[in-house]
Amino acid sequence: MKKYTHFNTSYMQILTTKKDLQQAVQHCKQEGKTIGLVPTMGALHQGHASLVRRAVEDNDICVVSVFVNPTQFNNKEDLAKYPRNIERDAALLSSIGAHYVFAPTPEEMYSAEEMNTTFAFDFAGLDKVMEGKMRPGHFNGVVQVVSRLFYLVQPDKAYFGEKDFQQLAIIHHMVERSSMAGTFGNLQIIDCPIVREDSGLALSSRNERLSAAEKETALGISKTLFASLEWAKEAGATVASVQQRVIDTINAIEGLEVEYYEIVDRTTLLPTDTFDHAIGCVTVYCGPVRLIDNIKY
Ligand code: PAF
Repeated sequence: MKKYTHFNTSYMQILTTKKDLQQAVQHCKQEGKTIGLVPTMGALHQGHASLVRRAVEDNDICVVSVFVNPTQFNNKEDLAKYPRNIERDAALLSSIGAHYVFAPTPEEMYSAEEMNTTFAFDFAGLDKVMEGKMRPGHFNGVVQVVSRLFYLVQPDKAYFGEKDFQQLAIIHHMVERSSMAGTFGNLQIIDCPIVREDSGLALSSRNERLSAAEKETALGISKTLFASLEWAKEAGATVASVQQRVIDTINAIEGLEVEYYEIVDRTTLLPTDTFDHAIGCVTVYCGPVRLIDNIKY
């Protein structure tokens, strides 16, 4: 286990092997400490920081994983372009009190076979819509890495952002209802709200790839979603009419192109014809950058 002092992290440790991570965790558990886990792919922003702060507050020990998981990318270019900056991430994490950062290489995380095998988990259809439809295999990769992290860290609580609402629904399903139930003890999944800039733009690591002009254009996404809360209250508004109005409004903004906007039930993620318990999930291309956001009705 290596102690990094060059980020002024006399306190936080960066671990790069599964063995070191398991030893560190075992030691904490023997001392009766509770562990909170925040899985990330790095390029951290204040949205991640809010998860880490919460994990630090709720638990004796906070472990943050920083791993750009290759098995959840169905697009090689997207994987290659995913922003990476471990030094900046480590500085942020140590400043907010994380105890361990787990930053393995893909080879450390997976065997060659695991890297090339398509895992197929059963998500009761939650993976067949929206992101799952657009990015085949994506959620299998997410669950592959998240379940491995749960196994290695054995956390009491794990923290995920609601910006990736479908991912969160699938992780809840995996922990509560799938054949893996029981495997993770009393693990509690903690849903954390979307963090937005003052302008309304949802924080995302992908925002780093936006030019200043594109960032301005991207504001049209959250503005339209917020406006749709009012549209839903208008006389005669239906889910279908609001859905279409959101798509048309965003597409009318030069530089934005909607991939999908679906208003679905928050539990089943299936299309709904009522705004009760509904969430609208959108994916929009802003130039070459694919952004996601959502709004609860
Ligand atoms: O949300 C993410 O950043 C990733 O999908 C996760 C959960 C860290 C798994 O790689």
